[in-house]
Order: sequence, then structure tokens, then C-alpha cells
Amino acid sequence: MANEKIYLYPIWIRIWHWLNALLFITLMITGISMQYSNPENPFLVSFELSVQLHNICGILLSINYLIFFLGNLITSNGKHYRMQSKGLFTRLYNQSIFYLFGMFKKQDSPYPISTENKFNPLQRFIYSTAMYVGFPIIIVSGLALFFPEIIIRQIFGLSGILVTALFHVIIGFILSLFLFIHLYVCTIGSSIISNFKSMITGWH
Ligand code: HEM
Repeated sequence: MANEKIYLYPIWIRIWHWLNALLFITLMITGISMQYSNPENPFLVSFELSVQLHNICGILLSINYLIFFLGNLITSNGKHYRMQSKGLFTRLYNQSIFYLFGMFKKQDSPYPISTENKFNPLQRFIYSTAMYVGFPIIIVSGLALFFPEIIIRQIFGLSGILVTALFHVIIGFILSLFLFIHLYVCTIGSSIISNFKSMITGWH
């Protein structure tokens, strides 16, 4: 039923999500600032402030991630992140075809939202990859850079710190790309703002 209201986002996931968004955006801005500046030539934010904010927000984001991880382990929200490999490609293909053509022809979504399936297959795949592959890598590499003495000196003849920093920056770039795609996809709903409202009220 098109007008039926369903409760999809429990309060803990909404608090986690908006805190995560705030911390992630601050990390993105300070990360870009550090990448393109030095103490003499600041870019966007002063170098000193960028370093301090990046460290604080990185630690807070890691603690917040622990809440997400444990919350998904303890509550039923975790089921939305589990994927079955059987038929995965077909489901991803069907959803992509809908995003590319079907929705512009006002066709019905091939995988309607329900309390059992709050994400369509593409969302499920991308959210699971971002949260269970991207986040652990960026958090572990970030913590290692915070305590550089724990990083092994040489990896295949290259400086361990350099390799760790490269991993950190590459995943940061991919997750930032995810954010822009995420924002666009979130505008696809019964109205442009309906999904944003859902993430505030919990109701879809
Ligand atoms: C200003 C920034 C952001 C806005 C406006 C935003 C908006 C939204 C909205 C409207 C939803 C609900 C619709 C849906 O499930 O697709 C959502 C869900 C979600 N977002 Fe975001 N988001 C932002 C940043 C982020 C960031 C930085 C991440 C992680 C890198 C993220 C990860 C997620 C995840 C994992 C969900 C599903 C949560 C669940 O129900 O289990 N979001 N977001």
C-alpha cells in the first residue's frame, strides 16, 4: 500500500547516523585540508586546527562505529546488512536497471520497502560494503597513524607509515564518493525530502 507508514529507523540508528554524518563531514573537510596544506600555507582550515579536529573526530567516529557494530549484532537491524550470494548479481542488475530507466518511466520498484527489507539490493550491498569493509579499514589505519609506533617499519620495501597513510586516504576518498552518491540516492523517494524526513522521524 502506497500510503502505509512503516517504522524503519529505530532511535539508536538515527542518533548513530546523524552523529556519524557530522563527524564524517568534519573528517572529510579537515582531511582534505591536511592533504593540500602545510603549517605555512593553510587550505580551508588552519593546519594545526585540522590536525586536532581530525584526531578528535576520528576517535569519536570510531566509538560511534562500535555502537553501530554492537547495535546491529544485538538488535534486528543487523539483518538488513546480511547478503545472500545466490542471485545477488541478478538482484543488483534489476535494481540498477530500475535506477537507470524504470524510475524515469514511473515503474514500480522491483524490491519494495518493507520491515523485512528496508534496503533495496543495491543499498544493501553498498551500505554493507561501506560499513563492514570501508569503515573497519579507515578506522584501523587511522588508529595506526594516531599511534605510528605500532606500525611495522617496512612493507615490501616501502615505509609502513606511507602504506598505511595511502590506504587511509584511498578509503577516505572512496567513502567520500559514497557520501555524494548516498545523498543523491536519498533524494529518490515519494518526494525529494521524504527519505531525509524518515531518517529524522524513523517512519517511512
Ligand atoms: C549529511 C550527510 C548525510 C545525509 C543527509 C544522509 C541521509 C540518509 C538518509 C535520508 C537515510 C535513510 C534512507 C536510506 O536508508 O537510504 C540514510 C541512511 C543511512 N546512511 Fe546516511 N546520510 C548522510 C551521511 C552518511 C554517512 C557519512 C554515512 C556513512 C559513511 C551514512 C550511512 C548511512 C547508512 C549505513 C544508512 C542506513 C542506516 C540503517 O537504517 O541501518 N550516511 N542516510
